[in-house]
Amino acid sequence: MALISKRKSLEQITKEADSHNLHRCLGPWRLTTIGVGATVGAGIFVMTGTAAANFAGPAVVLSFIIAAIACLFTALSYGELSSTIPVAGSAYSYAYTSLGEKFAWAVGWLLLLEYGISAVSVASGFSSYSVSLLQDLHINLPSFIHHPMFQPSPEGYNKGIIIVKSMDLVGAMCVMMASIALLFGVSESTTINGIIVTIKVGILILFIAIGFFYINPMNLTPFIPESTGAMNFGTTGIFRAASTTFFAYIGFEVVSTAASEAKNPQKDVPFGIVASLGISTLIYIGVAIVLVGVVPYKQLNVSDPLAIATNYINIPFLTWTLKISAVIGLCSVMLALLYGQTRIFFIMAKDGLLPPAFCGLHPRYKTPWRGTLILGVCVSIATAFLPIDIISDLVSLGTASAFIIVCFTVIWQRNAHPDLPRPFEVPLGGFYLREIWIGYIPMLGIISCIAMIIPLLIDMVSSIFHHNPIPMILLISYAVVGFFGYYGYGRKHSVIGKQHQSPNQS
Ligand code: ALA
Repeated sequence: MALISKRKSLEQITKEADSHNLHRCLGPWRLTTIGVGATVGAGIFVMTGTAAANFAGPAVVLSFIIAAIACLFTALSYGELSSTIPVAGSAYSYAYTSLGEKFAWAVGWLLLLEYGISAVSVASGFSSYSVSLLQDLHINLPSFIHHPMFQPSPEGYNKGIIIVKSMDLVGAMCVMMASIALLFGVSESTTINGIIVTIKVGILILFIAIGFFYINPMNLTPFIPESTGAMNFGTTGIFRAASTTFFAYIGFEVVSTAASEAKNPQKDVPFGIVASLGISTLIYIGVAIVLVGVVPYKQLNVSDPLAIATNYINIPFLTWTLKISAVIGLCSVMLALLYGQTRIFFIMAKDGLLPPAFCGLHPRYKTPWRGTLILGVCVSIATAFLPIDIISDLVSLGTASAFIIVCFTVIWQRNAHPDLPRPFEVPLGGFYLREIWIGYIPMLGIISCIAMIIPLLIDMVSSIFHHNPIPMILLISYAVVGFFGYYGYGRKHSVIGKQHQSPNQS
């Protein structure tokens, strides 16, 4: 069987997008707000501390820059694809038009990690900050309702796993509330999203502005701590931390899922993608410098590191506002991620690759309510049991893999359809290798995403030797379920597949 199989034509996919009849009301800045809203979340509020304490020390700042560069190549590739194929469905739709159905399924399955499963990490972050906020109000929740059952060993993230008698019910409840809100169509308010993003970004800028004056240069020395193991500190630790901080950037491409609602998708969607990434990068670098400058990095292996920094700064107003903005901001990220996921499921179900339950609309609220509830229940269960560290590494791995396919699709489209109008093109051009055009930016995107994946894989393998096979078991199980999902269901029910079998019906 040919590697490149059943594809959707560009005409077909554009016609389908037009038939969705969504209201085109989003301009460039509203799209950017959607991107920033979906991006700035648990990655900066929680994972920065873990990455500094376990892997990079103060050099976590460099890790943020490395991860941003990797994302920039992909963002530009997304920009070109979204200007050429301005339809919802993001990378899934791009893959369907170019690499065919099997790759589209693979991308859809990876996007489940990127959107659906990353909501687990965001829920964990929500749980940590809301419990911390309640503690400040002298309300102490029992620990067995806000810690997941599986937790990294206290000796270090990649030094084993422990099982405790608890479940993160606070995080799980947040997921269910967000799912119910989505069911009623709450996400449609870009105005509320804009307000939340303004609060979240405003407080982080305030944190940077005030925290800057509390930086203790001693905390930044040595900037790159000496290596204590394969992936702990030293230069390799910087790259390992980059794989972790990569998680913080996930979300900028949510803008591409809103293409059907953009006023001028060809121009505004690429702008929104690149602007969201740029704004998030500046905020992350600023926050990371202040965090490791104010708090000795070894103390940052906690679930609310920014709150620890505000305790050092000792301005109660800042502590309060930061925790409140983290709680609200994480809710908005959760909504954006779950929204994006339900819409990708929606399109996959319309294509027959998933059961119809995922595309059936509620008669009154016009939302894919069954799919939203199924997703909500699954994400809640995962939140109750699994720790943020393991989940966010899996998410980074899955997302980097999806990004590789996106970059590859740019190269494929350029060669297959060189004359398509491309209002936005990846800069720097490319070169020809045996008459095949290879763009510098997509190629660098592929290389840098592979560089994000390698440290994660090394860590997963070495974790097995530290009695922590869970990340590898999860990864393999996920791949196996995806494989059987396609061959057991998707391929048999594919709408395009049926058209291929009986061309007369098409
Ligand atoms: N980038 C998103 C976050 O950090 C997923 O929460």
